[in-house]
Amino acid sequence: MQLKIMPKKKRLSAGRVPLILFLCQMISALDVPLDLVQPPTITQQSPKDYIIDPRENIVIQCEAKGKPPPSFSWTRNGTHFDIDKDPLVTMKAGSGTLVINILSEGKAETYEGVYQCTARNERGAAISNNIVVRPSSKWGLSTHWWIFVKHGSEVRPLLCHPNTIRSR
Ligand SMILES: *[C@@H]1O[C@H](CO)[C@@H](O)[C@H](O)[C@H]1NC(C)=O
Repeated sequence: MQLKIMPKKKRLSAGRVPLILFLCQMISALDVPLDLVQPPTITQQSPKDYIIDPRENIVIQCEAKGKPPPSFSWTRNGTHFDIDKDPLVTMKAGSGTLVINILSEGKAETYEGVYQCTARNERGAAISNNIVVRPSSKWGLSTHWWIFVKHGSEVRPLLCHPNTIRSR
């Protein structure tokens, strides 16, 4: 089959131009392959309840895919969490996962709160669960507790403190 492209000899009348522009826009919209751009979807995130282990750094996960690859931002307690302003907090490259280096010097309690991650690209945004980061109740709700130790026939109370456990 042969296609002949006929040169157009007719001049466009002014009244037809908007219609032709409209048709061109429709065609270019249909032309964009759908798999070249995709809004982000969250592929991995921390559980809704994240208990801080004082012996480990805090790692709050957030991974998402999308085309183009999404960029990530976080809120903490409902307001923007500016990661660049906190030297203990880093975001993993190519993901939104936060690593909070509490082992070096930070205090875990400083980072309690409700975290939420947003992955965004030009096609839209995806939002993670609310991730509640809190200390375990043993460290968080009381500063010390009693245990009772049997010593022969005697039962003696023994005062425990988080520090006695941390420095095992
Ligand atoms: C977030 O809110 C909780 C509960 O009100 C509070 O204990 C915590 O200190 C807050 N976290 C930050 C980082 O402001």
